[in-house]
Amino acid sequence: MSDFNASASGQFTLGDHTFNRLGYGAMRITGDGIWGEPKDRDEALKTLRRLPELGVNFIDTADSYGPFVSEDLIREALRPYEGLTIATKGGLTRHGPQIWQPVGRPEYLRQCVLMSLRRLGVEQIDLWQLHRIDPKVPRDEQFGVIADMQKEGLIAHAGLSEVSVEEIGAAQKHFTVATVQNRYNLVDRTSEEVLDFCEAKGIGFIPWFPLAAGDLAKPGSVLDTIAKAHGASPSQVALSWVLKRSPVMLPIPGTGKVSHLEENVAAVNVTLTDADFHALDDQGKAAFKKAA
Ligand SMILES: NC(=O)c1ccc[n+]([C@@H]2O[C@H](COP(=O)([O-])OP(=O)(O)OC[C@H]3O[C@@H](n4cnc5c(N)ncnc54)[C@H](OP(=O)(O)O)[C@@H]3O)[C@@H](O)[C@H]2O)c1
Repeated sequence: MSDFNASASGQFTLGDHTFNRLGYGAMRITGDGIWGEPKDRDEALKTLRRLPELGVNFIDTADSYGPFVSEDLIREALRPYEGLTIATKGGLTRHGPQIWQPVGRPEYLRQCVLMSLRRLGVEQIDLWQLHRIDPKVPRDEQFGVIADMQKEGLIAHAGLSEVSVEEIGAAQKHFTVATVQNRYNLVDRTSEEVLDFCEAKGIGFIPWFPLAAGDLAKPGSVLDTIAKAHGASPSQVALSWVLKRSPVMLPIPGTGKVSHLEENVAAVNVTLTDADFHALDDQGKAAFKKAA
């Protein structure tokens, strides 16, 4: 038993799926460049099996992580997924380490969903996200096939990744956008407007790269000072800050190590005061402006 549990991060509901807001990103259980098998397969499986024990019941993956390796390991470690919500993504092809090419042809997106269903061993995907809108394909064709697959029951909920408010609006004409997954953290505030829009509409906002605390993790920064005051690590404070930023925030810190997973989940025990939150907010915005 541990004295921390992801349930303390609060809950979010998508239809008949209610899960704890602090989730897990399964991109790091693959090889270098998110290509091939992880260096330590046993540790990756242990990390996945530790998730439900720590109350982490929202897991984000993609067919392109590996490719396929992440979905395969999730199935091996966690099927039949009792009480878990598994979110996956499709629409990116892989031609080597760190190479990601969007393909949004409707017939390819349909194949992505059908293959993820087979790999995960489920009849319906809890949350399927379009990894990127393909600029080479009319977006209405991409959104249209997602709407079709949802009507057919292949997908329970549908989401988008790396999108603007305008693009969310365009997709909403075809299907209910359940979640948006954009890069966001204390020092990367590019998606601030998208986050505010999601909060206003009750759309889940999944910040990827939530731990990129950058300069703030350095000794002497506000993050470091506040972390010390709470007896916490800078990454725990970075997670605690995103969780406090919005009730629709669903962070998915990624790791292939049990010890890092435990440290990340223990962030739920860090309670930032409003003064801490605002000090970090100011510092994060200043660092973002400086980097721009
Ligand atoms: N939609 C998109 O386009 C997109 C893009 C990128 C990622 N994602 C999703 O977002 C998730 C999170 O993003 P991310 O994995 O890139 O970034 P992240 O969660 O901000 O950081 C992950 C990195 O930090 C390390 N780490 C994790 N916990 C740590 C700890 N407690 N102490 C020290 N180091 C720690 C990990 O290495 P170790 O493995 O060594 O712990 C890994 O290198 C991914 O897993 C994926 O599901 C989505």
